[in-house]
Amino acid sequence: MQGKRAVVTGGANGIGLAIARRFADEGAEVLLTDINRSAAEAASRDLSVPFFVQDVSKEADWSGLFADVRCRFSGLDILVNNAGIGDMSGKDSPETTSLESWRRTFMINTEGVFMGCREAIPLMAEGGGGSIINISSIAALVPTPFITAYGASKAAVLQLSRSIALHCAQHGYKIRCNTIHPGQISTPMHDKLMADTSKLAGVAFEDVRADYLSRIPLGEFGDPLDIANAALFLASDEAKHVTGAQLVVDGGMQLTN
Ligand SMILES: NC(=O)c1ccc[n+]([C@@H]2O[C@H](COP(=O)([O-])OP(=O)(O)OC[C@H]3O[C@@H](n4cnc5c(N)ncnc54)[C@H](O)[C@@H]3O)[C@@H](O)[C@H]2O)c1
Repeated sequence: MQGKRAVVTGGANGIGLAIARRFADEGAEVLLTDINRSAAEAASRDLSVPFFVQDVSKEADWSGLFADVRCRFSGLDILVNNAGIGDMSGKDSPETTSLESWRRTFMINTEGVFMGCREAIPLMAEGGGGSIINISSIAALVPTPFITAYGASKAAVLQLSRSIALHCAQHGYKIRCNTIHPGQISTPMHDKLMADTSKLAGVAFEDVRADYLSRIPLGEFGDPLDIANAALFLASDEAKHVTGAQLVVDGGMQLTN
């Protein structure tokens, strides 16, 4: 990773922060982005890497980011499209999801990834190649009627990534594009999911936690570092023959679905 230039979106918390830290520890030059300025500043101080405030759903923010990347790095080797949201309130069912919530989920989780890839491809191609890693979810692979828009938005990321992988290969760009599918990883997003479930169902938080845990064959929640290690592999030259792949990191959850 020494000397590789990487952008990690949603890098101020959870999985994105772990990826940014892992890449920086391995010698990469990392730029982290986030919509949350104060969290991004804190992460930037913690990791001693620069940050850029960005809403991934806004096209102008992507242009601004890539103008900054061109100046700062004069190229890009790795893009991790990690920023994402989910409506964990229990209202995201096929019968109850509002169009507004559906669109917001897709704007961030799917359109954000699309715009990031669209910006990154020409810059990486100019530099002779690169690695795009899109953080999807196990929710892209199994039915998720309790988080309907979220699952559909993450399935779209999978399909998009496969098209990008083939497009780049066919054009000889030497750009690889892969997805990671986390299961249940201990992050602020996952804590909120369990807290919301507890409130909605009127069940004690510890019981909800135990129920969620019981669905993971390996018997423990994932750590953000587990996803960071998967991203490290996909970003590295050791993965030079890997493109269009789905790396599932879920403690075996998919096996029981
Ligand atoms: N935690 C899990 O169990 C889990 C499981 C499957 C997939 N994922 C996916 O992994 C990714 C990271 O999840 P996490 O659990 O670390 O979430 P998190 O909520 O803990 O962190 C997400 C970060 O993204 C930032 N963000 C949110 N909206 C943004 C926007 N519009 N523009 C830029 N930044 C924005 C947030 O400020 C936050 O810092 C997401 O795409 C999520 O869907 C997480």
